Amino acid sequence: MKPVSALYPGSFDPPTNGHLDLIERGAKIFEELVVGILRNTEKSPMFSLAERLEMLKTLTAHLKNVRIEAFHGLMVEYAKSIDATCVLRGIRAVSDYEYELQMALMNRKLEPTLETVFMMPADKYSYVSSRLVREVAQAGGPVKGLVPEVVEQKLREKLEPAYRFHDEMQEGRVPGAKEKKRKRKS
Ligand code: PNS
Repeated sequence: MKPVSALYPGSFDPPTNGHLDLIERGAKIFEELVVGILRNTEKSPMFSLAERLEMLKTLTAHLKNVRIEAFHGLMVEYAKSIDATCVLRGIRAVSDYEYELQMALMNRKLEPTLETVFMMPADKYSYVSSRLVREVAQAGGPVKGLVPEVVEQKLREKLEPAYRFHDEMQEGRVPGAKEKKRKRKS
């Protein structure tokens, strides 16, 4: 059997602990793992491509067989261009399955030689998604334990006003906030 080179494609906006968990698992079973960040021109991401590249490079610096790259266009074509014969995707819960199955079968139709392999992240990350992390952080909420520390720091920097407002509300420093809290309790 030939050693397998795999592509783990995604948006990673931002990278979560679930992504990192999957990268670490993938790095153990594939000879080489390329994390491919989609350069999506339709979506307006929270983090620029350069920021996501930098964060993922920092987070995977300890994994010698992992490379971080960006791609655009069809994923199967990019996989071919880097000689990846396998696509790695994560499945957290049954709810992921339908979309992932559809995508895997479409990719198989486009490139029958490319296999999709699914792995499960640790169950403690089964509810963690980039979308929910963004939503919590945009409201100034805590994302500790959901994303690596470097990402948490970046979110705090990017969303500084939201975090400041949230902290001031919690401390009752926003006029009327204490009043409202007290009324809600009674
Ligand atoms: O992290 P995401 O957003 O779930 O990742 C989705 C991704 C990037 C894997 C998917 O949208 C993709 O592969 N896009 C590239 C364009 C493509 O090949 N589309 C056909 C997919 S069936």
